[in-house]
Amino acid sequence: MVEFDSAFIQAIEHRPKPRCIEAQNIPLIDLSPLNSAADPDSVSALAAEIGRACRDWGFFQVINHGVPPECREKVESASRKFFALPKSEKMKVSRDAANPFGYYDGEHTKNVRDWKEVFDFAVENPIVFPVWNERGDLELRKLVNKWPQFFPKLRFVEACEEHAAEMEKLVVKLLELVALSLGLPKDRFNVFFKDQTSRVRLNHYPACPAPHLALGLGRHKDTGVLTILAQDDVPGLEVKRKTDGEWILVNPTPRAYIINVGDILQVWSNDEYESVEHRVIVNEEKERFSIPYFFYPAHYTLVEPLIEMISEDNPAKFKGYNWGEFRATRNRGNFGKLDADNIQISHFRI
Ligand code: OGA
Ligand code: NI
Repeated sequence: MVEFDSAFIQAIEHRPKPRCIEAQNIPLIDLSPLNSAADPDSVSALAAEIGRACRDWGFFQVINHGVPPECREKVESASRKFFALPKSEKMKVSRDAANPFGYYDGEHTKNVRDWKEVFDFAVENPIVFPVWNERGDLELRKLVNKWPQFFPKLRFVEACEEHAAEMEKLVVKLLELVALSLGLPKDRFNVFFKDQTSRVRLNHYPACPAPHLALGLGRHKDTGVLTILAQDDVPGLEVKRKTDGEWILVNPTPRAYIINVGDILQVWSNDEYESVEHRVIVNEEKERFSIPYFFYPAHYTLVEPLIEMISEDNPAKFKGYNWGEFRATRNRGNFGKLDADNIQISHFRI
């Protein structure tokens, strides 16, 4: 029998390692103290718990979050119906170089193809966002969602929009707790909701005949502030554990949402919280659906460590960067035209 040493296993990082670590899950946090008449003590205990989870894992799950289960069921069923459409129908709302929203099957990436298909839409519709044009300039465009024209179209749009509205309510609550956990006023992040460019993605990972050779989604960090993910009951998401770099499978908890710290929160908090790598493995028998909501600020936001998070002893660890340009550059890379998909916050590290 062939023995693989750990260096070899690390080298084939795009393939899942043999999994023996399923026992320890990411922290599970009960948000019910928010629903009861505000008891300041339990809210600060909750904020401290969120702070620990952000620091130790960069990932946690929340229950008793107040999102109505019907809303989740509605968007999950809309997603299943959309991906079940013939490819030709889905291609009618395909994304292109001019507009990053719509359907995308991953074939355009120059990297190993991710075993998935996605549909993206902006929470505010339309939004103003920069796009790299053919002349190589960054151009501000009005981007409109590309809604599919299938019956019942209205129900699809309604399900997506209702879901986005619920995610926004949840992200407001979570950002208040994150602010408290960093010793900031609870409304510190409210200013970033003005002209927000948040988006929602419907992910479909089909069953894969050779799951050991593919990933649903390769290792990456999320670029936004926070991500809220609804995963179905098929496990697939793996998180890189900070203590030892092992990939930990996140076992689905019914009705829970998975929250993770994105790059922008890492910069704002001046490395107090870190955006953690994660990836998605595929399944030989079962398809999997997931729905992340990415909280993004206005395109003109200069992302830099918050003034309260720096001091003489703890100077800023990042130079400021423009959010719209950062994201547009990532989109351009994803579209496969240029070798630019690797823009990372580490490039702005001081
Ligand atoms: C993502 C992501 C995880 C999942 O879309 O950025 O990490 O479980 N998705 O689909
Ligand atoms: Ni992600």
